[in-house]
Amino acid sequence: MNFKRRLPFAFLPALLFFFFQKTTAQVTITLNTGDAKEKINRNIYGHFAEHLGHCIYDGFYVGDTNKVIPNTDGVRNDVIAALIKLKVPVLRWPGGCFADTYHWKDGVGEKDKRPSMVNKWWGGVTEDNSFGTHDFLNMCERIGAEPYLAGNVGSGTTQELTQWVQYVNFDGVSPMSKWRKQNGRDRPWNVKIWGVGNEAWGCGGHMTPEYYANIYKQYATFMTDWSNSDHLFRVASGANSSDYHWTEVLMRDIPHDLVEGLALHNYSFVEWTKKGSATAFNEAQYFATIKSALWMNELVTKHSAIMDKYDPRKKIALVVDEWGGWYDVESGTNPGFLFQQNTMRDAMIAGVTLNIFNNHCDRVRMANLAQTINVLQAVILTDKEKIILTPTYHVMEMYNVHQDATLIPIAINNTSYILGKDTLPAVSVSASRDKNGLTHISLVNIDPGKAQDITISLNDAAFKSVSGRILVSAHLQDHATFGEPEKIKPVVFGGASLKGNTLTAKLPPASVVVLELK
Ligand code: AHR
Repeated sequence: MNFKRRLPFAFLPALLFFFFQKTTAQVTITLNTGDAKEKINRNIYGHFAEHLGHCIYDGFYVGDTNKVIPNTDGVRNDVIAALIKLKVPVLRWPGGCFADTYHWKDGVGEKDKRPSMVNKWWGGVTEDNSFGTHDFLNMCERIGAEPYLAGNVGSGTTQELTQWVQYVNFDGVSPMSKWRKQNGRDRPWNVKIWGVGNEAWGCGGHMTPEYYANIYKQYATFMTDWSNSDHLFRVASGANSSDYHWTEVLMRDIPHDLVEGLALHNYSFVEWTKKGSATAFNEAQYFATIKSALWMNELVTKHSAIMDKYDPRKKIALVVDEWGGWYDVESGTNPGFLFQQNTMRDAMIAGVTLNIFNNHCDRVRMANLAQTINVLQAVILTDKEKIILTPTYHVMEMYNVHQDATLIPIAINNTSYILGKDTLPAVSVSASRDKNGLTHISLVNIDPGKAQDITISLNDAAFKSVSGRILVSAHLQDHATFGEPEKIKPVVFGGASLKGNTLTAKLPPASVVVLELK
């Protein structure tokens, strides 16, 4: 039977209506331009590079004697170019859990005289310390990123950390500045941002918050500022996800003139014990991962509320210095190396999370995606001389227009992405105005089955034109491979139009769009 031919013509409008309802939803957004006042700190777009798997060695660094892969002082030239284009504002190093095992003095001086070390947390591999303080800080200068050094509290000493500060920052005559000069660097680097340990509640020493607060005060006191530039920005090791008690104790017990930032770590996954494949996942697993990513909104809201209680003037920043999607490692790779592919699911995680950070920029003033190359939700994957810029890279690059722009608060009348009995807000959005007067709106439609018709009321702001870019692919599981590195790339978005004070746009299923209004 030919069903199409027998369909009574009279049912067609009803059928079209049903189809439209099923495949397109309506969302209205208002830009409250008059309330724009908070700056989106560019450091929200920060990254994280740990001595873990092939992030540093064979990721950033291939060695300064490498003649096969083009490099500058051992750092891959293609990586440098990609990170400059990304506008990486800040880069955290050397860990992570690794930071609390790292002794910085082993990583300076002549490379062939440096002692090796065993990377106890990540795969138990032996490292030769050929990538150390000078390599990292010079690389940051090259890519235009502010360095964020994570100090060793777990297995180090106050003296060791104090001397590191002195080594990299002190302009006067001192044993450490003399040693720095002997090792080839005359001027100090003036590193401002310092982590005081990492995950003190776990790999950083399994401490209670009360105990860590005491240790923190000791380190923060003796680090002092050995530079003649701005004062230090010290980040206390913060809570694991929803451990609000940790935040409460640190805000209560650490004098506020000793701390500039309080960290928070949270990863997105299906279930911690059942993470599943990075590329072969079903819709239920997708839904669970995005739900876990959207939880970041509740986390930053609740941690901020505790901080507000002790610090109503918001002097201390909430620093989400580890975030991103976490899946099973790719088959055949070292389980301790955390190497995973990166799909359109990760693009969705990046898009919604960055919108959350933008919208909370009054308190969230730095965040660091874990991790830059070949580890967890990486922006770059490498295989010998080959390189891939992942979907996450493209989202971070599209969104970099928000860096240091002024947040425009929004109101949204959202629709739901429904799976079974569970629902999530389908559209995520943030908006900002940059110093040149351009307004940018970043939108994510997490629903893989429905387009979204968006109507944006621009209030009294007058614009002449709208343009945009979109990241989308046929399937959520789509990803770039070393054989097809350009498979997913942002393209021009023609689906938005402007009429007076109203902007309309149609977001395809599972897409990320950034609009620019002039
Ligand atoms: O990013 C991987 C690890 O996750 C970090 O080393 C640690 O801080 C966190 O638990």
